[in-house]
Amino acid sequence: MSVTDQKSLAVIVGGGAIARALAEKLAADPTLSVYVLSRSEFVESDVTTLETDYSDASLARISAEIEATGLSLSRLIVTNGLLSNESIRPERKVSDLSEEAFGAIMSVNALLPMRSLAAFWSLIRKSEAPRIAVLSARVGSLGDNELGGWYSYRASKAALNMMMKCAAIEVRRLNKQAKLVAYHPGTVDSPLSKPFQRSVPEGKLFTPAFSAAQLIDILDRSEPDGELAYLDWAGETIPW
Ligand SMILES: NC(=O)c1ccc[n+]([C@@H]2O[C@H](COP(=O)([O-])OP(=O)(O)OC[C@H]3O[C@@H](n4cnc5c(N)ncnc54)[C@H](OP(=O)(O)O)[C@@H]3O)[C@@H](O)[C@H]2O)c1
Repeated sequence: MSVTDQKSLAVIVGGGAIARALAEKLAADPTLSVYVLSRSEFVESDVTTLETDYSDASLARISAEIEATGLSLSRLIVTNGLLSNESIRPERKVSDLSEEAFGAIMSVNALLPMRSLAAFWSLIRKSEAPRIAVLSARVGSLGDNELGGWYSYRASKAALNMMMKCAAIEVRRLNKQAKLVAYHPGTVDSPLSKPFQRSVPEGKLFTPAFSAAQLIDILDRSEPDGELAYLDWAGETIPW
């Protein structure tokens, strides 16, 4: 099926707080057909939610379903991220590292975004100026690391940034009009940040709606130059 240019696709992988805010905002644009992939279904008007277990098979089935619309991909935003859960706490010291926790965090934060890109590769290749973002984090910056700690989470976002750089080089050979962004959303009020919000200075805890709107604006204004940018919510470049 050929890619038409009537409407275009906005695909969001992950259905957490920032993802939902992105979906709500993007769905207000009548030129976009918005899809959200998540382990749990949620109801949002003008958004199609597709339940997934994020296995390769499930991602392939969903991407085929979306590609069958014949629409061009204009936004692909991968939002999945894991910082802590019932059995995982961010490490304070090197001796806190556990193979199991490290593996889980790497799998969700670094590998899953790349598996998502792989699932949508055919659409990325043939769409006009696809803008692709992953939710990275400033703590993935080596240059910005003054505090240490959070070994696995920091490493997973640094690994994500590196793999996005590789992906940008690969995508550029196929589609020079693509743009890739590794985005730091700021500290955002969400289940992920909830246990760590006590130390956030007054006025520095953003709503998901604010951070989502900033990303959408950054993507709308970005030059489709085939490059990866590592940007914060203000559109400022973060050192690698
Ligand atoms: N909130 C912040 O302050 C902050 C700061 C810097 C970076 N970030 C990044 O922003 C992104 C979105 O976070 P958020 O604040 O919106 O948090 P959130 O509401 O807790 O959402 C977490 C997201 O991660 C996915 N996820 C969690 N565990 C998973 C697992 N085991 N397998 C697959 N997917 C899993 C969830 O997918 P389902 O929908 O399938 O459940 C959901 O989409 C994350 O990548 C996070 O690292 C957040």
